[in-house]
Amino acid sequence: MAKRSIRFGIIGLGLMGREFASAAARWMHLLELDFEPVITGICDTNPAMFEWYTTHFPTIQISTTDYHDLLGSSAIDAIYCAVPHNLHQQFYTDIIKAGKHLLGEKPFGIDQAANRAILDVIDHHPEVFVRCSSEFPFFPGAQRVFQSIKARDFGTIIEVEAGFLHSSDIDPNKPINWKRMIGINGEYGCMGDLGLHVAHMPLRAGWMPRNVRALLSNIVTERFTKDGSKVPCETWDNAVMFCEVPSDQGGTFPMTLKTYRIAPGETNTWYIHVYGTAQSIRYSTRYPKSLYTMTYKSGDRQTWNEESLGYSSAYPTITGGIFEFGFPDSILQMWAAFCDELINGRDRMRQPFYCATPHETAQHHALLTAALQSHQQVRVIPLE
Ligand SMILES: NC(=O)c1ccc[n+]([C@@H]2O[C@H](COP(=O)([O-])OP(=O)(O)OC[C@H]3O[C@@H](n4cnc5c(N)ncnc54)[C@H](O)[C@@H]3O)[C@@H](O)[C@H]2O)c1
Repeated sequence: MAKRSIRFGIIGLGLMGREFASAAARWMHLLELDFEPVITGICDTNPAMFEWYTTHFPTIQISTTDYHDLLGSSAIDAIYCAVPHNLHQQFYTDIIKAGKHLLGEKPFGIDQAANRAILDVIDHHPEVFVRCSSEFPFFPGAQRVFQSIKARDFGTIIEVEAGFLHSSDIDPNKPINWKRMIGINGEYGCMGDLGLHVAHMPLRAGWMPRNVRALLSNIVTERFTKDGSKVPCETWDNAVMFCEVPSDQGGTFPMTLKTYRIAPGETNTWYIHVYGTAQSIRYSTRYPKSLYTMTYKSGDRQTWNEESLGYSSAYPTITGGIFEFGFPDSILQMWAAFCDELINGRDRMRQPFYCATPHETAQHHALLTAALQSHQQVRVIPLE
């Protein structure tokens, strides 16, 4: 099958830049797609990052420390941009104005003002396709939760819990990096890093909170720099958001969202639990093969069922159906969704779950900004 190539530039060649590149390099993993990403340009202010890419991607034509070189290149159709949060506004708006399609990293602007500025430029460039990275909903268990959401399996929703839990920051000797600095990571702290991951599926479900009461914790208040001196570490480590969500059946239900950098024992745990009167469902990447469901009718025993999930991905792959699914697989699936929607449009995508939209990033910024106010003012903040 002839494949249509989407020529990508990558800006920011760090942790996430490599994940994207690696996904592009194993595109043959995906079956029956008539499009593929081809990496033709790379950019990072640190040229030491180039070698890994140029060694593995003979298709690269431009390696540069100035991202404008990629924006001006006719060899590039789209950009994956994975740079620190303080650069999102300038970089994303420049990319869009240059007419390059964009998959930007979250939080899609360091704060709400930056996010609004990015969305304003998007509004003026409808010809450019823009989405935000959020891969966890592509885990097979998360996809099953979403199928239940769409099928309205829950009866009356009793409660929703979603979260994203890390733990390495519990180590007081972990050196400070840009993700722990307000000037680069932003006032949101852990919420800016982890918040879209948590909010993406609830927002896609239509569960935009009516109000929020948030509690934020700064647990490790000082950290060492690489040269051994101690500096203040002012970003929020943990956040819990208690939300009231309007139900489309009338009334409201509680939704608790957690973004924790200090959750003892958790490495990269993303979860969503939906409890309902007719069905409840729980999924966590901590036990990525296990999906827990309970259906209930009057008089039934209340028994949780565990289903061992295989590799039932949104886009079919070569992987055997009983094998395990992991983080790099979710990145590959998300990339397929981005390219699919870019090439085929929302209505003709191979599967229906599209990447996080700019509008969804704006909703999550409204929530995170209200959460900051809530903690500061010790009160419930309305979102309507
Ligand atoms: N989707 C996810 O699961 C996920 C995970 C981690 C990080 N992220 C997001 O990805 C983005 C990058 O995070 P990361 O962990 O890859 O960070 P990183 O520090 O590993 O990489 C960032 C890269 O950007 C480069 N850079 C800095 N300034 C630059 C400039 N002016 N021009 C070009 N390059 C520049 C740095 O040299 C570095 O190589 C952030 O928005 C972060 O929130 C997403």
